[in-house]
Amino acid sequence: MAVPPPASVGDPLDWVDTPALILDLDAFERNIERMAQAVGASGIRLRPHAKTHKCPEIARRQVAAGAIGVCAQKVSEAEALVDGGVDDVFVSNEIVGARKLERLARLARRARVSVCVDDPQNVIDLDQAAAAAGARLDVLVEVNVGGDRCGVEPCEPVVRLASDVKAAGHLRFAGIQAYHGHAQHLRSVDARRSAIEDAIERVHQTRNALERNGIDCPTVTGAGTGTYPFEMRSGVYNELQPGSYVFMDADYLRNDWSGFLRFEQSLFVLSTVMSRAAPGRAVLDAGMKALSVDSGMPMIAGWPGVTYLQASDEHGQLAIEPEVAGPKLGEKLMLIPGHCDPTVNMHDWYVCVRGGVVEALWPVSARGSGS
Ligand SMILES: Cc1ncc(COP(=O)(O)O)c(C=O)c1O
Repeated sequence: MAVPPPASVGDPLDWVDTPALILDLDAFERNIERMAQAVGASGIRLRPHAKTHKCPEIARRQVAAGAIGVCAQKVSEAEALVDGGVDDVFVSNEIVGARKLERLARLARRARVSVCVDDPQNVIDLDQAAAAAGARLDVLVEVNVGGDRCGVEPCEPVVRLASDVKAAGHLRFAGIQAYHGHAQHLRSVDARRSAIEDAIERVHQTRNALERNGIDCPTVTGAGTGTYPFEMRSGVYNELQPGSYVFMDADYLRNDWSGFLRFEQSLFVLSTVMSRAAPGRAVLDAGMKALSVDSGMPMIAGWPGVTYLQASDEHGQLAIEPEVAGPKLGEKLMLIPGHCDPTVNMHDWYVCVRGGVVEALWPVSARGSGS
């Protein structure tokens, strides 16, 4: 059942019901343009990650600005994106389980779909699913470049899996994924650069090993918002997959961005003060069910001396410094989420605002735990 949006087009921001996910369209559009120009000028491909926004409308805008397609993390996201008009989706993740593989293979009949593997059994299962669906899937071998999440070790293990993919009748070996998740939020620029230098070295060795075995590696993809300039200039990555740059969040704002292009905060959660029962204390109607706190508490835009202290299910407790009056009962505050992706996943609608007025309402079509 469709959930009605918390606002109507033309409403002033102040009239939006809360908690609501707010998108500052001017900042958002500048972010899209800035990344597209930077990567476009480098001559390599941009494939932004749609796990951040889960919204075909946003994916279509990224493609219109120059991206070759988008990434998704789950089959349900890929389905929503293809349904919403995106015709090239890379599932930058391992997909396991017969039902999901069947859906993925069926999707490959409607759009260009590619996926990661890091296990020979998964190659066999993918091939069978593609055969049953009468589809052909592009497959990238994921290589562990330091994140120690999914991915086989560099060099020989990648060669073995790539050979399996090449031998499978309904799969095509499309390259390698070398994404370093841990590096993205290392605070100092030097720490991020050094982590990616290590990753680049592992990618070089792996590509050489593939070459020695006569295996062509058309795509080397990876990178997030925190490190993309290093992969971009590596000479070995030819596709980048940053996601958070469209919105940014409090966690990313804590990184040192010296020498980097700046992306602006465009995503907020609008929240109302629902209690001022005691001096020095205020409570908002946005708690853990409106904001993800896995990467720290939200920041409050435009309220010096007021801090978001802790979140419970439906409440956000604020601390107000003694010399500050703080917000009144019923006042609306803009919060900068700690982590953008899981925050978006809690909402049904983007309330898109320009100049203080609601200009559009976009559904978060791929939201939910999904599959
Ligand atoms: C495989 C992969 N690629 C790209 C990204 C995008 O990273 P970011 O949102 O930090 O730009 C992520 C985020 O978790 C990811 O898991």
